[in-house]
This record gives sequence, structure tokens and C-alpha cells, in this order.
Amino acid sequence: MQTLIKTSIMQLLELYRQDPRADKLNLTAGIYMDESGTCPILDSVREAEAFRVQNQSSKATFNLTGAPDYQQAVRTLLFPNMGGSGETHHVQVIQTLGASGALHLVGKLVNHYTPNAKIWLSAPTWENHPAVLNSHAGGFGHYRYLPAHLDEVSLDTILADLESAKPGDYVLLHACCHNPTGMDLNLSQWTKMADFCAERHLIPLFDFAYQGFAHSPERDAELFDAFKERVDRFLICNSFSKNMGLYDERIGALTLVFKEEEQALDWNNTAKRLIRSSYSMPPTHGSFIVSHILNDPDRCARWQQELAGMCNDLHTRRAAFFTELANAGIQDQVLTYRQQQGMFVMLNLSEQQIDTLRERSGIYLLGNGRISIASLRTEMMPRFVEALKSVI
Ligand code: LMR
Repeated sequence: MQTLIKTSIMQLLELYRQDPRADKLNLTAGIYMDESGTCPILDSVREAEAFRVQNQSSKATFNLTGAPDYQQAVRTLLFPNMGGSGETHHVQVIQTLGASGALHLVGKLVNHYTPNAKIWLSAPTWENHPAVLNSHAGGFGHYRYLPAHLDEVSLDTILADLESAKPGDYVLLHACCHNPTGMDLNLSQWTKMADFCAERHLIPLFDFAYQGFAHSPERDAELFDAFKERVDRFLICNSFSKNMGLYDERIGALTLVFKEEEQALDWNNTAKRLIRSSYSMPPTHGSFIVSHILNDPDRCARWQQELAGMCNDLHTRRAAFFTELANAGIQDQVLTYRQQQGMFVMLNLSEQQIDTLRERSGIYLLGNGRISIASLRTEMMPRFVEALKSVI
């Protein structure tokens, strides 16, 4: 039997495509599928695209870091309450190819300004994090991301591991829907994390690929208030792949949140040079869709409803899956957490059990036990749970 523990999502997808079995089940990538097995195009997105086709008058573009309308849309989505005279930080939004493109740009920026700085990653983390950040030379540190109990991540373990970080190092944090565990810090833990970063002069770097999938776009962004109150600078990499279903547009942003305006502008200028010397300019179709929706209150409300629909569906599916596990009497063996958010659930399975599921039943999940609940239709759950039971 082929051992796939080191196999990436892309390799697993290729194997899945080649698998001739009709009842094969793909639980690998974080892509929202509805109960009919389709990754839907949102109505709000269709409308924005139709509007563009009707009204676009030119294809000329000269915005290295994205159009001002797009930057405004992202700024408001990340910081709904921003503005007014009490503002402490300067915010620069840079359009990128999804959150991955933003992370890649961060790697280059870190390398430009502080080539010896380390970037600290959670263990486990998204398998592609080291690769997209590898344009920086300072290397990686790792902090363990472990359960304190069924309902909570152990912040003590995280902070104990980050004791070894040096001032100026970056800490990559998953703002919500931690990938792969699905288990997030709560607001009081985020506040402690912000205090810790402030005391140690560590720079928080947020991967925010799943905004809106834990609670709502606004609530999922609340943690940033704690960081704005405490730290001098932080970076946010967000994406519209998941929350607008714009997977194929590769649209996201790197947002610089800096107390010092001069520094923010300098970073922004460096980003412009890096962009110009790599892909020259970003595309505009995805960014148009995003700003068309977010900058209009009615369209934005409609999108939020569609997003809430996907989010509620995931909560319902997760609950149904947990019930199936409980009914089969294997819930305690299989689950580490009970309070996950977003698209993923981690299962306590050995490499061999994961291989057996794939070989014997055509069920594909990641080698670390992560499944995408967003791809698990309710009607498939009994079969999946039956197969799980058979390998335990
Ligand atoms: C995932 O973790 O499944 C997603 O982020 C999709 C990807 O590109 O890996």
C-alpha cells in the first residue's frame, strides 16, 4: 500500500481524479460544496459580473496595489468601525492573489526589511504555509497548537513555545477557522496573545482566509481591535476565495496596519516595487466584484445573507456528523475538539487508518487526519462513518 502521509492536497486530488470508483469521496480541499455537490456561484457575485459586462468601458489598468474602491472595500470589511479622530493606526491595503499571494508578498517584505527575522508557524498549520512564505531567508519557528480540553486550545503551550521568539520575529496566526484544526482562540485568549506580542515586540501576521465562516464577517474581525489597542504593527492576509466563492479569481489582500505612517508608506512603496518586478500589476475582474458588492450597503447585506447560509450549513453538517459519530459509538476516539469552526475537522486517525480508508473505501482525506466538512454532504455521512468505524 502506498503511504501518503507526506502527500499534498494537490497530489491527493490528482489521485482522486484517477480513482475509477463511482462512490469515491473527496474530503481534501477546503472548498464549499452544497448538498447537491456543487460549489455554487453566489447570486451577489453573478449580479456584479453581469453589471461589469454591461458597464465596463475600458480594460486599461495602472494600479499596482489595486483600485482605490477595492482597497476601501477591504479596509471596511476588516475594520468596520474604523475612522474618526481617535484612529491610532495607518492602514494600507494591497491587492494580492488570494491570501496565498499576500503571504508570499509578506515573505518578500520580511526578507527585504529584516532578513534574519523568523516567522513562527503553528504546528500543525496549513501545509502550504512554509512554501508560500519561503521567499524570506530567516527560517521558521514552530509553536504547538494543542487542545487544553475538548472546547479550548492551550494558549499556555503556544506562549511557552513563543518564549523563544526574538523581538522583530513574526507570528503567523489564523484569525479564525484554524487550518487544519478548526479550533480558534477565544477573544480573551486573543487579548492575551496581543499583550504577549506587544511585550516581546513580536509582529502578528494574520492569515484570514475564512472571514465570515466562524460567526459573521464583523464578529470574526473583532480580534483585530485587541491588537490595534496593543501592538504597533500587524499584517493581515485575507481572501475572497471562500467567503465570496471566488476561488478561481484569486482575489485577496495584504493589509498593513502600522502606528507609524512613514513606515506604512515605506512598506507600501516596497510592495509596489516587488509587485512591479514580479507580475507587474494585479488583475481587475475579481477586485471589481468584491468592491461592487462591499461598497454598496444593499448588495453587501445580500452577500452577508448568502455567506451566513453557507456558514450555517457548515454548522449544521458538523453537528450532524458529530451525531453520526456518537450514534456509531466512536465520537470520543475520533474527535479532538468539539467546538470547531469553518470548513475543517481533524480526526484522530493513524497514517495506516487514513491509507486504508483511501485504498479500501475510496475516501480521501489529508495525511494529518483533516477532513473538509464543506465537501461532506449529509447523505454521505452514514457511509463515511461506517468506513471510519471499520478502520478503528
Ligand atoms: C485548503 O487548505 O484546503 C485550502 O486552503 C485550499 C488549498 O489551496 O490548499
